[in-house]
Amino acid sequence: MKADPGEAGVGGGMPHVARGLEGVVAAATNIAEVDGERGRLTLKGYDVSELSGRVTFEEVCYLLWYGKLPSRAEYDDLRAEMSRARELPAPALAALRELATQAQGMHILRMGASMLSVGDDDVDNLNPDVSRRRAARLQAQMPALVAHTYRLKAGKDIVTPKPEHGLAQGFLYMLEGEEPDPARVAGLDAYLVAVSEHGLNASTFTGRVVISTSSDMVSALTAAICSLKGPRHGGVPGPVLKMLNEIGTPQNAETYIRRELTEGRRIMGFGHRIYKVRDPRGALLSGAAGKMAARTGDTQLWDLTKSVEETTVRVLAEVKPGRDLHANVELFAALILHAVGVPSDLFTPCFAIGRTAGWTAHMVEQLEETKIIRPESIYVGPRGSEMAADGAAVKAKPGAGPKALPPVFMLQRQLVATPFSA
Ligand SMILES: CC(C)(COP(=O)(O)OP(=O)(O)OC[C@H]1O[C@@H](n2cnc3c(N)ncnc32)[C@H](O)[C@@H]1OP(=O)(O)O)[C@@H](O)C(=O)NCCC(=O)NCCS
Repeated sequence: MKADPGEAGVGGGMPHVARGLEGVVAAATNIAEVDGERGRLTLKGYDVSELSGRVTFEEVCYLLWYGKLPSRAEYDDLRAEMSRARELPAPALAALRELATQAQGMHILRMGASMLSVGDDDVDNLNPDVSRRRAARLQAQMPALVAHTYRLKAGKDIVTPKPEHGLAQGFLYMLEGEEPDPARVAGLDAYLVAVSEHGLNASTFTGRVVISTSSDMVSALTAAICSLKGPRHGGVPGPVLKMLNEIGTPQNAETYIRRELTEGRRIMGFGHRIYKVRDPRGALLSGAAGKMAARTGDTQLWDLTKSVEETTVRVLAEVKPGRDLHANVELFAALILHAVGVPSDLFTPCFAIGRTAGWTAHMVEQLEETKIIRPESIYVGPRGSEMAADGAAVKAKPGAGPKALPPVFMLQRQLVATPFSA
């Protein structure tokens, strides 16, 4: 935390502006711990690499919502509840049929998510138990939103999953209309677990801000999706795959990466606000993708990704020294989703499916806090502007704010260590 009480506004001279809220602690959470120095991610104390591949995504949902891994009976109940809940409200499905051909992936997902309140007369009920049940319903409906849209866009009709399908299996079944190979289901499940939760990232923070106003979970989910969409957050795996295809062979990697950097572009799938080492989810996702590649014998993309990672980390260390830029989860997300056979325009929607677990867990946690999230800004614009006599022109006096401030105006004072639930 980069709090600087000596400069924190009132009576302290120049306010400290935390660009991008970097270093600001805005919540206490008991859901996940992200250790950026050691490259470790734990969910409720479990190392994510222990969970991924060993428990199902639904078990991790239960863990995040209820704080413990479920018993067999609790697991069966959750699976049954989610299976019953995954049908979309009829008016939402009717609207999707109209919209599917008119807009692209995350835009449709945003519109679709906002329709999940249709028919929920209790949607404004923010009771924590009701909210956990709502989390399960929304989580169950996200795969249907993504898969139905994809099929409708392709001119095909929707496919309804079988009651016995788990979330990953049901998603692939809804997408393709046939039983998926168990290895693909396992690969997708490992991916969903890996991306299920990641502390106070931009989309989770967005969701918490919305629910802190005592709005509702569907609104908060929709807002989180809007935030995830951006290429500095979740909108990256599609571009990562495009980049890998453009590079084509390991021999081309260095020239390609150097050219991108020279032309001022960022390398997608590298760099992270918190991790200053390799993203811990990288090893487990590349491991899962490697297993799938070995099974099919198609290791070309896996080999290429490994080589591009080595080259990029080396070149970034040279061109951007001291920034500690390593591969992030998105590099490997592209690899595993490609190995599972998910179309690349569904990579970010798939991320949203997995992250709904963490988003909703954070919303439930945020509901225990009664204080709205409301930081401050420091005004640096003109003061004393006057209307000209004819009303047409505006005469502004020179900027009155502190000149040293960058054009980002978040003031750290109120955000630091806001006490959320323990
Ligand atoms: C993830 C990301 C937004 C984190 O941003 P951040 O912590 O706020 O870091 P900044 O944007 O301040 O970048 C710090 C420096 O590293 C550089 N940098 C960061 N990521 C970079 C990348 N992928 N390629 C090239 N340079 C990068 C920036 O240009 C900046 O350099 P400067 O000091 O010369 O200005 C950023 O690393 C990024 O844009 N990565 C590419 C997109 C991506 O993979 N997103 C998925 C995230 S999981």
